[in-house]
Amino acid sequence: MKYDFNEPIDRLQTGSVKWDEVENLFGDKDILPMWVADMDFKAPQPVINALRNRVDHGIFGYTTRTDSYYEAIIGWMKRRHNWSIEKEWICYSPGVVPALSIIVQTFTNPGDKIIVQPPVYYPFMSVIEQNGREILRNPLIEVNGRYQMDFEDLRQKLDPSVKMIILSSPHNPVGRVWTKEELVTLGEICAEHNILVISDEIHFDLVYKEYVHIPYASISKEFAQNSIVCTAPSKTFNLAGMQTSNIIIPNKTHRDRFKKAVENLAIGLTSTFGVTALISAYEEGDEWLDQLLEYLKGNLEFLNEFIESSIPEVKVIQPEATYLVWLDCRALGIDAKELEKLNRKQAKVAFDEGYIFGQEGAGFTRINIACPRSILEEGLTRFSNAIKSLRK
Ligand SMILES: Cc1ncc(COP(=O)(O)O)c(C=O)c1O
Repeated sequence: MKYDFNEPIDRLQTGSVKWDEVENLFGDKDILPMWVADMDFKAPQPVINALRNRVDHGIFGYTTRTDSYYEAIIGWMKRRHNWSIEKEWICYSPGVVPALSIIVQTFTNPGDKIIVQPPVYYPFMSVIEQNGREILRNPLIEVNGRYQMDFEDLRQKLDPSVKMIILSSPHNPVGRVWTKEELVTLGEICAEHNILVISDEIHFDLVYKEYVHIPYASISKEFAQNSIVCTAPSKTFNLAGMQTSNIIIPNKTHRDRFKKAVENLAIGLTSTFGVTALISAYEEGDEWLDQLLEYLKGNLEFLNEFIESSIPEVKVIQPEATYLVWLDCRALGIDAKELEKLNRKQAKVAFDEGYIFGQEGAGFTRINIACPRSILEEGLTRFSNAIKSLRK
């Protein structure tokens, strides 16, 4: 089946955080939302059909994760990521961020240090701080428009109070797909210093053709035993509202502790629709995903051409994965707050401003290109007109 990602779909008054919270969050209902990481596309048709059939059944009682739920996950990991996982390793959480919070609470103590690599998805910082742990910043370094990990800085900062790293793989917002070499270097440092690796791989399916994502725990038995890998069908298939994620934990001791924490919080029962959606997405969603990736690549090319011809002051950090594009706006010569004001008040666009990903992101902005091309063009035109007014 051929999917039409160009079709604009009105999401207003559907309870969409991205669209219905615009006035509340940004103070103006005419702002075009291109911020939070969900897509303005319908889910794959097989998922919609499966949910419709489930609705027609009419009974929505307590729901369990069936054998076909686990088989669908195991099949997906093998097919798309060449990663063999066992049923027992798969643990449930309603979302990756709730899982991160549980993991921080379960595997570290108040006052322990946890490494993050900013600029990075901001909830990493909040789950650490809100749980009374300390953030250890190991900022990425940008070399000719491509970000890298700074292992020298990391080695220098380590001490016995560092217990964990939360890794974004692929990285949000800088779009890197980490190479095996980078992951191995990082993993060896962590193993040597008894640092547990939490690899948030929620964007792992949204990787552009030239790149290959490597699940952290697939690298070696040792890496598998010293890691927790967070996955979900939510980013891949636009199913965030289904509240279903899978935390893959090969180490039995770690797994038992995680499961106990979920049980203590009494959040272990799955959403009825989450189970149905996951099975159909992982069993029948390949065709849709392949077409989505082509469409996103087209949007990225459109963005590159638009920016190069209209606002060459803005530098595009080329994403290797994700539909989130990190734009370097430092050459505009305005500070982070002025950039935010320009976007919100003049351009009337809601991007995720770079500084919220850590001070390392100041002067950058992150745009979500998972929308019909017409919406992308509208957003970029607004942004470019506002920048042009700065030039006068
Ligand atoms: C790196 C990363 N982790 C986690 C999430 C959110 O996960 P969840 O909705 O499952 O809590 C996002 C959403 O943007 C993300 O980018």
